[in-house]
This record gives sequence, C-alpha cells and structure tokens, in this order.
Amino acid sequence: MLKLSNVTMEFGALRSISELDLTVNEGEIVSVIGPNGAGKTTLFNVITGIYTPTSGSVELEGKSLVGLDPARVNHAGVARTFQNVRLFLNMSVIENVMSATYGHTRAGLFASALALPKSRKEEKAVRAKAEELLSFFGSRLTGYRWDQPAYSLSYANRRRLEIARALATEPKLLLLDEPAAGMNPKETQEITQVVERLRAEKGLTILIIEHDMHVVEGVSDRVVALDHGVKIAEGNFDHVATHPDVVEAYLGRGAADRK
Ligand SMILES: Nc1ncnc2c1ncn2[C@@H]1O[C@H](COP(=O)(O)OP(=O)(O)O)[C@@H](O)[C@H]1O
Ligand SMILES: [Mg+2]
Repeated sequence: MLKLSNVTMEFGALRSISELDLTVNEGEIVSVIGPNGAGKTTLFNVITGIYTPTSGSVELEGKSLVGLDPARVNHAGVARTFQNVRLFLNMSVIENVMSATYGHTRAGLFASALALPKSRKEEKAVRAKAEELLSFFGSRLTGYRWDQPAYSLSYANRRRLEIARALATEPKLLLLDEPAAGMNPKETQEITQVVERLRAEKGLTILIIEHDMHVVEGVSDRVVALDHGVKIAEGNFDHVATHPDVVEAYLGRGAADRK
C-alpha cells in the first residue's frame, strides 16, 4: 500500500531522514520506534505532504505522493493524527468530527475550509456519520460529551477525538503519531485494542509511531527502528527490541530523553 524508496529529508545541513526504504502492506500494522529526534515525525510529515523529500519516492498504491499538498494526500487516502493534538478547541466534539468530514463531501474545498455544510440534508448526514465515528470509542466518548467544547475533554479523549477526525476523511492508510502519549496505563492498554479494532472493524492499514513498548509489542506485525534518520533494524518486535543497535540507540541517548 505504501512504499518509500531511498527517501532523504534534509533541513539545511541537517539530515532528518537518510536513504530510507519502508513498505507497509495492505492490512498491516507497522510501528516506527526510535529515540527523540530519530526522524519519526518527519517521516509522517514527508508521507503526508507537509514536507517534500529532498530525494527519493513515496508511493501509495503505486501512485506518487511527492509534491502533493496535505489535502491532496488526504484525498488520496492517507489520514494522520499529530503528536501534539490538533483540534478546534472551541468547537464542540461533534463539530470537530463534522468539519473533518466536509472536505470529503460534495460541498467542496471552499465550504470545507469554513466548515460549512451545503445543505440541511447534507448537514444531517454528516452529523450522523460523525456520531457513528465517535461511537467507535464507546463509553469513553459518550453522547453527552458530543456537544461540549473540545477543550473540556481529558487529554486521552482529545487523542481519541483526533483519531475520529482522521477517520472522518475515510482513509485507507492511517498514521498515528504517539497515540498513547500522556495516557495512563489503563488508557494505554486500551489504545492497543483501539489500534487493533481500527484494522479489524475499519479495514485500515496502520503506521504507528509509539514510545510505549507494550503498545508496540501488542499491535505490531512489524517494527522499524530509526536513529538519526537511518533505519537501524526491522522485523518482528522481539528481533527489533533486542537488536544491539536499537539498545545502543536508546541507551546512548541517556534516560532523560525518554519517558
Ligand atoms: N522543519 C524542520 N526544520 C529543521 N529541522 C527539523 C524540522 N523538522 C524536524 N527537524 C529536525 O529533524 C530531526 C528529527 O525530528 P523529528 O522527526 O521530530 O523526530 P522524532 O519524531 O523522531 O522525535 C530533529 O533533529 C528535528 O529538530
Ligand atoms: Mg515525533
């Protein structure tokens, strides 16, 4: 589904990603790990069109994504969440999901930029869809919360809402940037199930950046480890977690870098 070949991303003299090959097959859950500054978020930014790679190719189902802006990459079937949650905090929970949907209705880009529906009928349909998407999170994000402003949500619920917003764009490939960050152990455990359900129930292919090794172990078909923008190991969880270069990358940076 996703294929990166020989991707390099430079910012001036700094090489954030170096000659990276990465494949994600349809229906797979692949995790990207690595110490802070390894280039993980930059990888997502390159895939989603926030950055154009200095060199190399990025293909979704055989079609190049290079040079497409983020809206077009999203239209092509790639949605993401952000490490630092990005919501409209003054909008209600349901409006946050609805506004993410409009870009994918006939209302078109101009209306979607203003988060305006084209008709009452369309608004109803969009609301129904948003309710269905939020229902994915069950009792954690129940109906009474839907009309409250997003700022009233707990941190964990903001992360769930971000996932719902990503789902609203009907992706094939979902990129999750540290979905368990800031969550307590119980919520973190739930995220493992959420990721698995996203594949089982929504049919998604998933690329996930995560620091919590329980989550990585729980969800991953395959793990890719980055350090200084270079892929240092790839394989199943046990292979990567015990790989000497991975252990070195984490220990070498010092514990203060990690949570
Ligand atoms: N827009 C940018 N301009 C300059 N340097 C950047 C930019 N984005 C990321 N970097 C640098 O790229 C490196 C990798 O960052 P990042 O991808 O955020 O790491 P990670 O997500 O693995 O912690 C860091 O050194 C970071 O400072
Ligand atoms: Mg990051």
